[in-house]
Amino acid sequence: MSEGILGMKRSCYCGEVRAAHVGQELVLMGWTHRRRDHGGVIFVDLRDREGLVQVVFNPEIGGEQFGKAETIRGEYVLAVKGTVRPRPEGTVNENLKTGAVEVLASELRILNTAKTPPFYILDQVDVDENIRLKYRYLDLRRPEMQRTLILRHRVAQIIRTYLSENQFLEIETPMLINSTPEGARDFLVPSRLHPGSFYALPQSPQIYKQILMTSGFDRYFQIARCFRDEDLRADRQPEFTQVDAEMSFVAQEDVMDIIEVMIARVFKQALDVDVPLPMARMTYGEAMERYGADKPDTRFGLELVDLADLVKDSDFKVFTQALANGGRVKGLNAKGCAGYSRKEIDDLTKLAAVYGAKGLAYLTLTADGIKSPIAKFFTEDALNAIVRKMDGQTGDILFFVADTPEVAAAALGHLRLELGRRLELIDESAYNFLWVVDFPLLEYDPEEKRYAAMHHPFTAPKDEDLPLLETDPGKVKAQAYDMVLNGTEIGGGSIRIHSREVQERMFKALGLTEEEAQAKFGYLLEAFEYGAPPHGGIAFGLDRLVMLMAGRDTIRDVIAFPKTQSAACLMSRAPGEVSARQLKELHIKI
Ligand code: AMO
Ligand code: AMP
Repeated sequence: MSEGILGMKRSCYCGEVRAAHVGQELVLMGWTHRRRDHGGVIFVDLRDREGLVQVVFNPEIGGEQFGKAETIRGEYVLAVKGTVRPRPEGTVNENLKTGAVEVLASELRILNTAKTPPFYILDQVDVDENIRLKYRYLDLRRPEMQRTLILRHRVAQIIRTYLSENQFLEIETPMLINSTPEGARDFLVPSRLHPGSFYALPQSPQIYKQILMTSGFDRYFQIARCFRDEDLRADRQPEFTQVDAEMSFVAQEDVMDIIEVMIARVFKQALDVDVPLPMARMTYGEAMERYGADKPDTRFGLELVDLADLVKDSDFKVFTQALANGGRVKGLNAKGCAGYSRKEIDDLTKLAAVYGAKGLAYLTLTADGIKSPIAKFFTEDALNAIVRKMDGQTGDILFFVADTPEVAAAALGHLRLELGRRLELIDESAYNFLWVVDFPLLEYDPEEKRYAAMHHPFTAPKDEDLPLLETDPGKVKAQAYDMVLNGTEIGGGSIRIHSREVQERMFKALGLTEEEAQAKFGYLLEAFEYGAPPHGGIAFGLDRLVMLMAGRDTIRDVIAFPKTQSAACLMSRAPGEVSARQLKELHIKI
């Protein structure tokens, strides 16, 4: 054979054949999506990544050496030469981009046969995800998976172009680094050449990108793989991809401005969605107060209401004691839910309990007045005032949680999301972007009895709060910002500390001794002494971004080869055992 595959060279994708090709002879290659026999003629929908086209065969076409059309089965790989012709009147398929035409085959090569797949290669597969993951190569043949990964490519490409146009340099940072036990758990890699020593896989390129700023690169980006050994959820994977960027000589607003334009461009070019700029900004305090979350889903209302003033003089000890202990009493109006059964209320109580609530009090607003196990603890005036403040109407049910500020926010925040879903208050076609700003720098960890960085230890405090770092650390606000889309945190960043003195104070506030700080981060502290410029940056979760753009519920659907909830790859069976010899070389005993 002189050229091509068994003498054939592909002319275009199956999904690209159009009426303009009528009369032309084309060579197409792809997979047999469906085969039908019609009175001695065989119809095959031939599929590739761009779509399907109908091919018409005489059963005798092909030959001994290539196989005949009548032997074609599902997922057989074919090369077909044929002439494009209009479909006969009445057989045009409006739902198919190639639906006006078909290809009358003159030659056929069966390039490969296929076993019957364990599930149909269709968009709507009703099959256990574990089977899909085991046969990922077949799952990825499904058109929706192909579309999603093509979208992911597009998004990455738009980001690369935008950042390059804006003077960002793409620079790679190492995958084998030193373990820094801040944040999530590290994945470790044993060193053969240094017995007993380990590399860690990076949780993010954070320190390296800051050092690149110190080196004068000024603007950096990387589409970087990150590794975190944490408990997995639908929007978390042990390895995931960040769009990571860092800039020198900038303040918080500079980073936010350039990055929100990038996101708007991604949505415009990939989805033709206009994102209004500038994006809304909300303080962390307001987000917690109104939505009980630092990543509020603002596609619907159902906001939390503070009731301290109205209940502090009541006889309900649960409420008054929570307030006396520095806690909060907050409520949520479940509109139109007065008909909820005992069981439905119990289920919501259980949901609140998951987030620490010790109970869920409620007032049901019926046509016969207020019904509630706790009404007896309140005067009629107080009840009316509560109903008024929560905009209660007949048919509503008002829920309350009294607890620490954190528990009250988390429990009602999640109750709000659940009710938003149940009551179908969420506009699924909306993209609500939001910057959350003014985060606390530190949060107190009662178990460890110390402060931990809310973002990471390299985030700069607000200048005016710097003096509080030693006197009132919980009050210090950070120069940090998160971008939230429809209630998911898609990106987060900050202005960084760039002085050794401040970084050392930060480590001290986190409970690190000077020796520990020196041992873990000595090179960074030292780099700061050689002229580190003011700098800041951000990182986006590329998987989460594409998940939301593709309308998927899990990032597994936008990663070609993801891990399960237990961090395993069902196709390749990673993680796996290794030989005794490999272990010996690595100086490891199990
Ligand atoms: P952060 O830890 O907030 O910041 O991560 C940035 C973004 O990465 C995504 N993300 C994840 N996606 C999938 N699976 C995970 N396990 C996972 N963890 C995080 C989220 C998140 O917003 N170095 C800093 C960024 C900076 O300050 O510039 C960092 O890593 O979308
Ligand atoms: P109890 O006095 O424990 O019988 O509780 C009376 C009602 O108050 C029940 O509906 C409980 O679910 C609710 N409740 C108990 N503790 C809390 C709390 N911390 N916040 C809100 N409601 C609560």
